[in-house]
Amino acid sequence: MSSLKDLFLLDPDVVFLNHGSFGATPKPVFASYQKWQREMERQPVNFLNVKYPEADCWARQHLGEYLNASADDIVFVPNATTAINIVARSLSLSEGDEVLSTNHEYGACDNIWSFICQKTGAHYKRMTVQLPIISQERVVEHIWEGVTPQTRVIFLSHITSPTAQQMPVKEIAQRAKQAGILSVIDGAHAPGQILVDLKDIDVDFYAGNLHKWALSPKGAGFLYCRREFQPLIEPLIVSWGWNANPATSTGSTFLDYLLWQGTRDPSASLSVPSAIEFQGNYNWHSVRNICHDLLTEAIHRICGLTGLMPLYQGDVAYYQMAIAPLPKEVNSEVLKQRLWDEYYIEVPIIEWQQMKLIRISVQGYNSHSDIDALVNALEVLIPQVVSN
Ligand SMILES: Cc1ncc(COP(=O)(O)O)c(C=O)c1O
Repeated sequence: MSSLKDLFLLDPDVVFLNHGSFGATPKPVFASYQKWQREMERQPVNFLNVKYPEADCWARQHLGEYLNASADDIVFVPNATTAINIVARSLSLSEGDEVLSTNHEYGACDNIWSFICQKTGAHYKRMTVQLPIISQERVVEHIWEGVTPQTRVIFLSHITSPTAQQMPVKEIAQRAKQAGILSVIDGAHAPGQILVDLKDIDVDFYAGNLHKWALSPKGAGFLYCRREFQPLIEPLIVSWGWNANPATSTGSTFLDYLLWQGTRDPSASLSVPSAIEFQGNYNWHSVRNICHDLLTEAIHRICGLTGLMPLYQGDVAYYQMAIAPLPKEVNSEVLKQRLWDEYYIEVPIIEWQQMKLIRISVQGYNSHSDIDALVNALEVLIPQVVSN
C-alpha cells in the first residue's frame, strides 16, 4: 500500500506503526480542515454565529449515517475523554452505587471513574479479564459476575487500548438494559477500524474518536446518547446553551448544552464528512482487510521470534491494531527508545498486568517493508535489552 503512503503527511523516514495513539490524517481531509479554518478567519462573526451551527448539523447528519444513529442523538466533542467526562459527571452517582468495568480500560478514562467514585462515595469495581480471551461469551459471563443490586453503570471499551481486544459490548449493553443498568462504551478505537452500528449495539452512551481510525483531524470526538437518557446529561462547560434563547435553541437540551462550549475551532469536526468521503473514495473496507492480513503476519513473525504464544484465540478478533507478548525480562523503556533512536520505528511497548506487550497498528500507509523493519529490529534488540 505504498501508493497510499503519499496521501498522508507522515514523515516518510519514520516507520510509523502507532496509528492507534493519535491517528494520522490523509492530505485531502487535512485540506478540508484547513479550508474550514480559512473560511472562519475570513469572517469569524458570521462563521461562528451563522455558518457553524448549520455546518455542525450537516456534519452530524453525515456522522449519524456513518454510525447508524440519528444526528439528534450525537454531539461533537473534542475527544473521547471529554465525552466520558460529560457522562460520568452527569450521572449523579451517590454513596453505595457501583460502577463496573474491567482491567483493560484506558488509564485516563479509568481515572475519570475513580475520580467520580471518590467524589461521590460510589464504588469503582474492575473485573479481571485474563488474556488470552477464550470466548466473548465467557467475557460477558465473567463481567456479569461483578454485577450486584448496587450496580448503576457498566463502563467498557469497545476495543481496548493497552491490549487491543474487541469487547462484547452489544451483549453487555443488552444485558445491562434488561437489568436497568446504564451502559457506557468507550469507542475511542472503534469507528473506522470496525463497523460501528449504534442501533445494533443499542447502548445508552457511546464515546468515540474520529481522529484515530476514522482519519479525521485531531479534535474530532463525539458523544452518542440514547434519546431516553438525554435529559440526564448536564453541560460539562456551562455556556449559552444553558437556558438557550428560544430563537436559536435546537429544541433539544442535549444539543443546546453541548453544542456551544465557548469560542473554539470546530474545523476538525466539520471535516468529518470529508474523512468519511475519503474512506469511500479509497475503498477503505478493502484497505482495512489488507492491513489486517499484514498485521496477522507481523504478530506471527514476532511470536515466531520470541517463541511466545499469540494472545488471540477462539472467536476474539482484532482488526488493524493488535498486541504480541514480549519476554518478561525485556526492559520495555530501553527497547522502545532503541527502536526509535536506532531504527526510527514508532511503536508502543506496553507494560500491562505483569505482561510486556508490543502494540502494532497497521494503517493504509503501511507496507511489508515496515513489518520487515520491525521484525528485523526486534530480532537484534530483544536479546540485547534483557535485564536479569
Ligand atoms: C480506549 C481509549 N479511550 C479513550 C482514549 C482517549 O482518547 P482522547 O485522548 O482522544 O480523548 C484513548 C486514547 O488513546 C483510548 O485508547
